[in-house]
Amino acid sequence: MKIISQKTNKIHNPLGFQLDTVMLSYQVADTVSKSQEAARIEVATDPLFLTTIYDTDWSSEISSLGYLLEIELKPRTRYFWRVSVQGNSGDQCISDVAWFETSKIDEPWIGQWITSGDLTTESPVFIKTIQLSETPIKNVRAYFSGVGLYELYINDKKVGDEYLAPGCNAYDQWIQYQTYEVNHLQPGENEIRVLLGNGWYKGRIGFNHGGKTNQYGSNFELIGEVIVTYEDGSEEVFATDQSWQVSDSCIGLNNIYDGEIFDATKSPVYIPAQLSTQSLTERLKARRSLPIVVHETISPVDIVTCTDGSAILDFGQNMVGWVTFPINEEPGTEIQLRYAEILQNGDIYTENLRTAQTQYTYISDGNQCVVRPHFTFFGFRYVKVTGVTKLESFNQFRACFIYSDIQQVSKIETPNPLVNQFISNVLRSQKDNFLDIPTDCPQRDERMGWTGDIQVFSSAACCNMQVYAFLSKYLYDVAVEQEKMQGSVPFIVPMFDVIEGGSCAWGDAATIIPWNMWLHYGDDSILKQQYHSMKAWVDYIERQVQAQQSTEYLWDSGFHFGDWLGLDNEPHIKTFKGKTEDKYIASIYFHYSALIVGKSAEVLGLEKEHDYYLKLAERVLAELRKEYLTANGKLALETQTAYILAIMFDIYPKEFMPRAAKDIETKLARDQFKIKTGFVGTPYFCRALTKVGLNDLAYRIFLSTEKPGWLYPITQGATSIWERWDSVDEGIIHPDSSMNSLNHYALGSVIDWLYKDVCGFNPTEEQPGFKKALIKPAPNYRLKHIELESETAAGLYQITWTVTDDGVIQLSVTVPFDCSADIYLPDIHDFSQVESRGDILGVILEDGALCINVNSGAYHFTYQPTRDYVTRYNVHMPIRELLNNSETKAVMEKYIADVLALPFLGMLENESLSDIANKPFYKHEKEVLNSINHEVSTIIVQ
Ligand code: BGC
Repeated sequence: MKIISQKTNKIHNPLGFQLDTVMLSYQVADTVSKSQEAARIEVATDPLFLTTIYDTDWSSEISSLGYLLEIELKPRTRYFWRVSVQGNSGDQCISDVAWFETSKIDEPWIGQWITSGDLTTESPVFIKTIQLSETPIKNVRAYFSGVGLYELYINDKKVGDEYLAPGCNAYDQWIQYQTYEVNHLQPGENEIRVLLGNGWYKGRIGFNHGGKTNQYGSNFELIGEVIVTYEDGSEEVFATDQSWQVSDSCIGLNNIYDGEIFDATKSPVYIPAQLSTQSLTERLKARRSLPIVVHETISPVDIVTCTDGSAILDFGQNMVGWVTFPINEEPGTEIQLRYAEILQNGDIYTENLRTAQTQYTYISDGNQCVVRPHFTFFGFRYVKVTGVTKLESFNQFRACFIYSDIQQVSKIETPNPLVNQFISNVLRSQKDNFLDIPTDCPQRDERMGWTGDIQVFSSAACCNMQVYAFLSKYLYDVAVEQEKMQGSVPFIVPMFDVIEGGSCAWGDAATIIPWNMWLHYGDDSILKQQYHSMKAWVDYIERQVQAQQSTEYLWDSGFHFGDWLGLDNEPHIKTFKGKTEDKYIASIYFHYSALIVGKSAEVLGLEKEHDYYLKLAERVLAELRKEYLTANGKLALETQTAYILAIMFDIYPKEFMPRAAKDIETKLARDQFKIKTGFVGTPYFCRALTKVGLNDLAYRIFLSTEKPGWLYPITQGATSIWERWDSVDEGIIHPDSSMNSLNHYALGSVIDWLYKDVCGFNPTEEQPGFKKALIKPAPNYRLKHIELESETAAGLYQITWTVTDDGVIQLSVTVPFDCSADIYLPDIHDFSQVESRGDILGVILEDGALCINVNSGAYHFTYQPTRDYVTRYNVHMPIRELLNNSETKAVMEKYIADVLALPFLGMLENESLSDIANKPFYKHEKEVLNSINHEVSTIIVQ
């Protein structure tokens, strides 16, 4: 037995974080036991546990998902903890020692806010030399914050490995400070230097016309304390005050959108720093943000010579961060790097960056050094370099890939390289946009926390990576900003200058994200933290609905983004909004959010509210059905998104699901099986098809390489998810540069279908956090095989299925220690027909599938399903599919060569041969169609 993954509030050994509650979690691996008999948690103030301050003793009540440690926390204290586990087979194990260290909590600050006063600067540098005594040092901590952004250096060495501190949040409400463990102070003189830049606080940022400066303030402000604890127990504090000095630094222009200019020829001229006239101390709070760190450094894969002769470095993938490189130039030499996502006509294309300049300039002072920007970041694959005169190799340019310190937890692999690339692109776009806040895109003059984008992606985000701490900080800000809006949820969090909100699907971020987090991580703390915000959003909607003074209880007022970027609203496409009615989408989300608040109230033991919100959800659902569904189950709206939402959010009662299947299929056929959905419909597109039994169609559309489609961008060389279905068309960028990011995760949310339906891997409300999983795979021969490995909050699950050429299904599942699962085998009713391995607890027949109840262990099932899983060609498929395969094409040529030769056949390629056979130009006997069908149905669709 081994204990792994010890976390405090889902963070590995957190230093100086805000700890509203302390949740200790862990996982158990490598054990013969299946479940936990008992566990014991011990907490001490020393790593050897000589001073144990808390001991649960052996208890059967401790859950590995989270043990709430209720002790009074002292400021600036490191608590060490370990856990012992006893399994049901009698084996035992004691963990390594993990720790968490508290911030200053409510300890008053000795440090004072200091500013650069009247100094004209875009980036001040503050300095102070401190004198340490000769007494041996036990430890040193630095507590710092600075706005806009800051970097702390001690004795010329950057402290910590994080960038863009103090992070991005609603600075008008709270400002985060960081805690650093400082290891390189020496007795005697030490120099502390802090460099500040504009960042989100005071640099150009925002939505309207490229944003504006000074959103949160116009002064650079710094506060800090270096606290030295000596071996003799004494303590010395070196704090920011008037004795510090300040100068203009080498950094000139700097902001998030435009980049940075560094003039190394400038020399500092120090003057006394001034005390700040405004006190930000009340807003100063311990950090919630995870640090932004460099996760990878990448060399260029190619060097392209631009039409103007300069070099363009190709890093092979769209990414976020910056390029670092060595300088060895004559004084005054100016080097420029311009960042872009794509090349067009042999040069970098920057129009889709809108007003963002995305440029780094370095002016050399003749010294050799390695440089990087400090207070900006870029979304790029290509970097155009000008001004370099002496450089041995461009390979010395290294791209640093930055994002918040979150880890990937799942891996999916299939035999289809396009699908694998798609999965990798989704992950990349998630990493690229998880830079302290979940951004819409990382490159143009936006890069903001659009609530709708993360709402639609949140479930996928939780499957891909461990995002608990990252999203709980974002949600904390959602709640903070919501306070200013009487419960309405802003479009963007932090709001910057966009004081607007209240759009459905965007505002529902307040309810859907915490709910998805609870399901995936099984920790009630997130619902406790967010309940007020969740409820406030639903109450806000209810107030809007009541103000409409209508007899119906549907949401039919206010501004909504609708099915954003849906393709079905031509010729009004300029509005960027799909065709599906606002009132319908808004009311569906109203229903869903009310349902979530009702269920959350139950989790939190709030009975009255549980009752109230569930009733509200029921009422809205009834109204939705009354308005949009006829007595016979016909949906009143005929867009793809309308059908998808009706299926996913139970607008169709169960008995109408067959009709839903028929109607959505007809609708898609009418649209020639082309996707027309936007942000609202897309995440559920394939999920809805699988749910109503059109699994094969879901696969067919997902696997299509045509436009619009998920795999089309892969055929165009995409390395991240695009904002538009057709952001690039055969190498040519979409003409509308105003809304064309190549790094927008929203459309990638279909990956949720791969997890939850294709692999069938679902959390349960019964035991969230995957303590109990619902494993309901939907295998298909078009993909043939899939492997999923997912390191959940509860432990490592593995799911693999194969559909063999004989149509046999093989399914393997591994359920981790102390977990259980219901595994559904599709299309089999008799368990005696299944060859199985593993200790099965029980089998029942449910909804035409065998449901097998298991606990921890490895399981394997092989069976011949009751229906044919291997797809063979037939004449009811679009003729395009028959023409794409050489064997089926040959069959058609044998019988109907004249039809194939028709010049206008290309226009009919999405119609089936059986439909074409009814057209007047088709002159063959009916038997010919039967013969073709007979022959092509022996050929397997690969
Ligand atoms: C963003 C989107 C966002 C939208 C609002 C855009 O500019 O990039 O992703 O959700 O505005 O509809």
